[in-house]
Amino acid sequence: MAIKVNSETKEFHLYNRQVSYIFRVLEKSNQLEHLYFGEKIRHRDSFKHLIEREIRPSCNMFEGDHTSSLEHIKQEYPSFGTTDYRYPAHMITNSIGSQITNYQYHSYQIIPGKPALENLPATYVEDFQEAETLEITLIDEVLESKLILSYTIYANRNVICRNAKFINEGKDSFYINNAMSTSVDFPDDQFEMLHLTGAWAREAHVEGQKISKGIQSIYSARGASSHAHNPFLALKRLDTTEHTGEVYGFSLVYSGNFLGQVEVDTYSVTRVMMGINPFQFKWKLNPNDTFQTPECVMVYSNEGLNGMSQTYHDLYRTRLARGYWRDKERPILINNWEATYFHFNEEKILSIAETARDLGIELFVLDDGWFGKRNDDTSSLGDWFVDKDKLPNGIQGLSEKIDRLGLKFGLWFEPEMVCKDTKLFNDHPDWIIATPNRRASHGRNQFILDFSRQEVVDHIFSLMDDILLTSKISYIKWDMNRYMTETYSQSLDYDQQGEVAHRYILGVYNLYERLIEKYPEILFESCAGGGARFDPGLLYYAPQAWASDNTDAAERLKIQYGTSMVYPLSSIGSHVSAVPNHQVGRMTPIETRANTAYFGTFGYELDITKLSDEEKAKIKTQTAFFKEKRQLIRNGDFYRLLNPFESNEVSWMVVSKDKKEAIVGYYKVLAKPNDKYYRIKLTGLDPDKLYAIEGKETTHYGDELMNVGIVLAEDYTNRASEYWKREKSGDFSSKLFILKEV
Ligand code: DGJ
Repeated sequence: MAIKVNSETKEFHLYNRQVSYIFRVLEKSNQLEHLYFGEKIRHRDSFKHLIEREIRPSCNMFEGDHTSSLEHIKQEYPSFGTTDYRYPAHMITNSIGSQITNYQYHSYQIIPGKPALENLPATYVEDFQEAETLEITLIDEVLESKLILSYTIYANRNVICRNAKFINEGKDSFYINNAMSTSVDFPDDQFEMLHLTGAWAREAHVEGQKISKGIQSIYSARGASSHAHNPFLALKRLDTTEHTGEVYGFSLVYSGNFLGQVEVDTYSVTRVMMGINPFQFKWKLNPNDTFQTPECVMVYSNEGLNGMSQTYHDLYRTRLARGYWRDKERPILINNWEATYFHFNEEKILSIAETARDLGIELFVLDDGWFGKRNDDTSSLGDWFVDKDKLPNGIQGLSEKIDRLGLKFGLWFEPEMVCKDTKLFNDHPDWIIATPNRRASHGRNQFILDFSRQEVVDHIFSLMDDILLTSKISYIKWDMNRYMTETYSQSLDYDQQGEVAHRYILGVYNLYERLIEKYPEILFESCAGGGARFDPGLLYYAPQAWASDNTDAAERLKIQYGTSMVYPLSSIGSHVSAVPNHQVGRMTPIETRANTAYFGTFGYELDITKLSDEEKAKIKTQTAFFKEKRQLIRNGDFYRLLNPFESNEVSWMVVSKDKKEAIVGYYKVLAKPNDKYYRIKLTGLDPDKLYAIEGKETTHYGDELMNVGIVLAEDYTNRASEYWKREKSGDFSSKLFILKEV
């Protein structure tokens, strides 16, 4: 890995074995020109030959110079108003109302490793040799402001991380209207834009379309990264597949309002930007203050979408997730939400826990409804005091009993919310996000606490701390069940209201950080009505996230497939639930429910006390199986094989890093009569290794499995000669194939 600087030509080249990123300082204007991002190219003493100039009718910066139009120069961090007419990466309004900026190159420094971002989550290094960071300082003399653009390249990852920092060095405040984390101008538009879209209970559906002239974007203005769009987009070449071809990924390490925008101009240049959504954003930067953008993690892969995903998986699993649980096997949990909803008592909980323990489950999670008078979703959020009618021995007593059963105990909170019938709301009605003299809209009968205020965060910390101090809690499910409306904070001035949504997320991060610091061994699982904040920002604090409230196995195939575009299996909360499924009413076999949930953190969410002995025996086998395979599932390389958005068959697999072991999941959504012959072509194996497939007598070389595939119509056991007498698999069937080198 290297960051090379050509001092004479003022060029910067970040590269490792896989990727190159090159930009330069423009001679006259001292702004930054982007030259290249993609497959690694050799370093040259000069990259002048990459400069692209042509006289075209346009406005130019310098008189007598007809090639100084920023509209025709690919830029690193574009501004608006001085010859470029596309959307800019930043926009500032100064004290005289001008929005023209001119940040000019001042200096650079190369820092071994990767500096942390103040108060914001970010990827990191454990050893400074893992990465190098280039910081470019630019100065706008009129604005009296510095801009630091930061670029990190990892030694062994096809990743470039970017962020920007604004510093006000003048005497007047100014307003930042837009501050993207990254902006890249690609020289052509032969891309498809792929992203993850959805809604409650159908998160992370993969969508893609060829980009066209004009703007296409994904965004959130909901106060959370949202179910609607994940803060991720990829630009893939038109012929790129899961396994071959070029793709650029952009993933924002942030949990609030964001924008991912692709603009194709009339010259077919493609500008990609990602950062905090400028819509509804306005940050007042006072003299001597700084504003730090979140980090954008950009991945370049020439090994298709799988290549991109694996890069994100490894980075996010090992250098974004942190702390005690990062590398540990996660416990198999059982959550009582779909088992009891709000209606439980200690006896019921203990009976579920005891059965769970007997079936090999390791952690019991008590979900919503244990506090205040919360018997439905109309009340009590914010009164984090146990409901003694349900739990006469308190959380302390219950947690101790569960501990004595030999299970770990976890608890649900929704720390950011309040209901109006609570002491918290009565004592502090001004602590909710609401606009004076306007109606405050509710979501699920609840209101959002103003986490942009430190005293609110402090108060919630102390309420949670009281419970954590006295009980045996090893896990917290941190939920968040509504979006922001009438966004306004009573603690900020009229000209700072554009800061509320970002300050709110900083407050959320702050509460997480304090809890983690005090209780480093608690495993956090983030949740937002399912996957509304399944984003890299929260993975920094909570190494796993509840992917969706939809626990139906067939629906989960899509949700988990989409989520895996960016997020490692170790982060994807996935449970086996009851049938008929509570979200869609579908019946699926318990084997398929487990075969789907294994490819995630794995757990259960149903009343197991009501199951038949046969079903209980199956669960016992499943937990034993997962315990044996969980190392492989969390640490191996994940490959998507067959796409649920395109076919009736779905398949994926995990291969151990040494390629000695693999596990393949194969799912057939609807049964078909007298259908075609099926084979699954595997990938990622060692072509020369000989593998045994559990349950089969034959052995197979890696090259056979990857080129011929596993032949599925190999049913030697089913002897009935008449088709209608043979046993049928039915809808939603599935199979696992366990491969081991022999
Ligand atoms: C939404 C979550 O996604 C569910 O898992 C559950 O915790 C409910 N909230 C509880 O209200």
